[in-house]
Amino acid sequence: MNQAQPAYQFDHRHLLGLADYSREDILYVLEQARYFREILERPIPKIPSLRDKTIVNLFYENSTRTRVSFELAQRRMSADVVNFSASASSTKKGESLKDTIRNLESMKIDMVVVRHESPGVPHFLTRCVDAGIINAGDGAHEHPTQALLDMFTIREHFLDYDGLDGLKIAIIGDIAHSRVVRSNILGMLKLGAQVVVCGPKTMIPRGIEHQGVQVSHNIDETLAWCDVAMALRIQMERQDEGTALFPGVREYHQQFGIKRVHLDRYPDFKIMHPGPINRGVELESEVADSNRSVILDQVTNGVAVRMAILYLIAGGTRS
Ligand code: CP
Repeated sequence: MNQAQPAYQFDHRHLLGLADYSREDILYVLEQARYFREILERPIPKIPSLRDKTIVNLFYENSTRTRVSFELAQRRMSADVVNFSASASSTKKGESLKDTIRNLESMKIDMVVVRHESPGVPHFLTRCVDAGIINAGDGAHEHPTQALLDMFTIREHFLDYDGLDGLKIAIIGDIAHSRVVRSNILGMLKLGAQVVVCGPKTMIPRGIEHQGVQVSHNIDETLAWCDVAMALRIQMERQDEGTALFPGVREYHQQFGIKRVHLDRYPDFKIMHPGPINRGVELESEVADSNRSVILDQVTNGVAVRMAILYLIAGGTRS
């Protein structure tokens, strides 16, 4: 970091979604994350930046990557961490979300990381308590830290680019029900990328072009065009619930799955996926594990990006 430059005025008390963050805010978070990424490479990857802070991880929905990543980020920065699991709490006895959060705040907490199946819960919490709120995924609305780590990973692999200007990014799969795609479209367009969403008509919301993206229903045309192909998880539970968006898994894989043959045919694009992956559905297993995949880099970078956002929401400034 250049000591001579004045600190950027990052004035957000919360991270509710990338709709609220400007291009400059996003670039600032990503620059901070580069510093924390270096910390994670040290023999002892621990710093005292949050040693006076208490953070509650409030997860009402299942998670592997986001939950572990936030907890590791908090512990690497020496915060006091409390993990709240709805299934083992008084939520099961009928306690409301507002009562739960106000009781937790009475125990002097500084920040809350929340995942919930209902869109808008992080916004609601800002009206209940003074703590900083970070959205770890709210229904099909936003998943801002996932989009930040995705953009960080893309920049890491395309260092020639300032922002993501001119980069061609394809997002493939269930666009209609994805919070990851919503945050990524907001962030990637602010950083200057060209974005194509690709999938069956039933998975693409009507009028999405008005958000500034292009639509494709042809996987070959999309992969021939893009620098980065991000496959999304097909929500198999919808098939079981009887709200199927495609005739069957085999048909989906045939038409929209990324396969070994695509890697040979189109030698340039990188493969991303926010996880969890359905192997053999959105990605052939060999593709997920190939040297064109940066999926595990996304996971590694998630810790650094979450360290950066925790640090900034806690009021930290670095020049
Ligand atoms: N990408 C993501 O949100 O994964 P988890 O559901 O495992 O947190």
